[in-house]
Amino acid sequence: MDWDALEGEFHGIVPPRFTPPEAPADPGTPIRSDDVHEPVRGDHDRAFDVERATITLADVGGMEEVKKRLDLAFLGPLRNPELRTLFGKSLRGGLLLYGPPGCGKTFLARAVAGEMGAAFISLSITDVLTMWMGSSERNLHDLFAAARSHSPCVLFLDEIDALGHKRSQLGSSGMRTLVNQLLTELDGVDGNNDGVFVLAATNAPWDIDPALRRPGRLDRTLLVLPPDQAARAAILEYHLRERPIAGIDLRKLAAATDHYSGADLAHVSETAAEFAMRDAITTGEVRMISQQDMLAAVKEVRPSTDAWFATARSVALFGNESGEYDDLAAYLKKRKML
Ligand SMILES: Nc1ncnc2c1ncn2[C@@H]1O[C@H](COP(=O)(O)OP(=O)(O)O)[C@@H](O)[C@H]1O
Ligand SMILES: [Mg+2]
Repeated sequence: MDWDALEGEFHGIVPPRFTPPEAPADPGTPIRSDDVHEPVRGDHDRAFDVERATITLADVGGMEEVKKRLDLAFLGPLRNPELRTLFGKSLRGGLLLYGPPGCGKTFLARAVAGEMGAAFISLSITDVLTMWMGSSERNLHDLFAAARSHSPCVLFLDEIDALGHKRSQLGSSGMRTLVNQLLTELDGVDGNNDGVFVLAATNAPWDIDPALRRPGRLDRTLLVLPPDQAARAAILEYHLRERPIAGIDLRKLAAATDHYSGADLAHVSETAAEFAMRDAITTGEVRMISQQDMLAAVKEVRPSTDAWFATARSVALFGNESGEYDDLAAYLKKRKML
């Protein structure tokens, strides 16, 4: 975020700086780079969407701490093979992103792929489980095969907790087989995982099968918290970019939306647009979306992450013997929730 550009008010339509893949206005942005990559078809004639990420970490507003950790835990080792040899570190295993919903986990994963110039395959574990019920192991295998054939590739496994807490639904032995299959794929026993970088995401790391979090697997974790002020300004700017606005002070709005998630900020922008439109309908006079509309919308839309933090709080209190949630505990303390 260029803060200088934010000094004072800005008017008019802001040109889009990037295209978040999950923007509600255009849900279909994933680019099927069929010209670069053929979609991979498995035995069951399914295709995994292989994207070329169009965003990099520069498009992620704020979140400097997360970016720094991404660099240390993931991008740095990747860029420095000689240091890896020196310190005897392999690239095996993946990075687990966790945090409240709507706060940028998927967005960050895409940005990492973009940063590496790698292909990006994203799939939710729930899809693996339900879309092809009965052949989930095969699906996982095909998924990793697809990633290998597109290397360098970031393989993003969303909702990875589904492999833990859905255990009762599929019967524990079936789920155990699936976890084992994922472990096999992660360990690269069946195939060479060179150039396949696994990122996983969850809102509920405490539900994840512990076997998946052992060394060499999803052994590094990264807490993705609600957007900080700079991130909130970037998110609001994005959601207002194609709307008629006048006199919007992004910095003030960002300051007034502490604890709001990216999704909440999208909702705020929507609500403000509704206010202006409602006025236009009743008065017959079209007007711009104003700072007042935005502030009124902020009052109406409450941050949605409270429920998540309530759960997180009990985990930090009662489930943090090993210290794996120290980051979370530190944040909760800062917010005086612990
Ligand atoms: N730091 C950020 N900079 C810009 N946009 C962001 C940022 N964090 C989140 N967003 C926006 O918020 C939306 C929701 O984030 P998403 O990655 O889908 O959350 P999660 O995967 O954690 O549920 C994204 O589509 C993105 O547009
Ligand atoms: Mg997501």
